[in-house]
Amino acid sequence: MQQRRIETRLEAALPRPEVAPVRLHQAMRYAVLGGGKRVRPLLAFAAGECTRADPQRVATAGAAVELIHAYSLIHDDLPCMDNDVLRRGKPTCHVEFDEATALLAGDALQSLAFQLLAEERLSDDPSRQLEMVKLLARASGSRGMAGGQALDLAAVGTTLSVPELENMHIHKTGALIRAATLLGAHCGTAVAASELGALDHFAKCIGLAFQVIDDLLDAEGTTATLGKTAGKDADQGKPTYVSALGNSEARKLARELHRDALGALDDLGERALRLRQLADFVVLRQF
Ligand code: IPE
Ligand code: IPE
Ligand code: MG
Ligand code: MG
Ligand code: MG
Repeated sequence: MQQRRIETRLEAALPRPEVAPVRLHQAMRYAVLGGGKRVRPLLAFAAGECTRADPQRVATAGAAVELIHAYSLIHDDLPCMDNDVLRRGKPTCHVEFDEATALLAGDALQSLAFQLLAEERLSDDPSRQLEMVKLLARASGSRGMAGGQALDLAAVGTTLSVPELENMHIHKTGALIRAATLLGAHCGTAVAASELGALDHFAKCIGLAFQVIDDLLDAEGTTATLGKTAGKDADQGKPTYVSALGNSEARKLARELHRDALGALDDLGERALRLRQLADFVVLRQF
């Protein structure tokens, strides 16, 4: 049901494919619609349940994060970055269209994300809404996702220590997962700083665990189940938790992060049921 709500929201937010510039709009829709686990919007919904948020508002906030995520994937797959040809079981955006169109589709999705956050009413308190826009901007930028991607590219062919890996993963992947969770919570009634801190700690652990599992799946999964080319990290000389710790230690770390994440939710009781379920999914997933 929430999955359908987010698909509908994304579909409505994206420009129609017949509207000019047609090729750009088609590329944006291609990269966003018809695939993806939607983990970030689902985290937003689950966090919104902790603060009794209006699901329509959360759908908009979750869609904004998913648009940033989709943009990050388009650019991540470009030849100048990971040079991938398969994403969500389909040719990557630059393969299906062309590199220039893919670059622009990423740019335009990023702008659209902020347009949504700025245009739609997400909080009754305008100053809180402004904080939400700032939160996503920080999470996406050079000290968030984009910065993490820069660390990732600079690390190709080198070895990173575990603290360095953690720093890279917390930025490239953790930042948007954290933003999704907090934005979902901010759509609801104001909560005590301690509850917000608990949600933030949960999201920090889950964000890191998410990328640890992504590293493991790259090494252990198949192209068919992942919908993206397996085994690329080792082929491209990317330092990962698998290359640093080995498969079983990396999995052990993911389990520890999972436990830590669940521990952060203790005081939230029943309201955090769906967040607990998502934490389980993030660590147990096969794709
Ligand atoms: C893949 O993210 C890239 C990372 C940040 C690890 P997802 O595994 O969430 O990809 P989709 O959205 O389900 O395709
Ligand atoms: C991608 O990490 C992180 C972002 C897109 C921000 P990866 O390069 O490991 O993601 P996949 O494995 O290509 O999905
Ligand atoms: Mg990458
Ligand atoms: Mg990649
Ligand atoms: Mg990966």
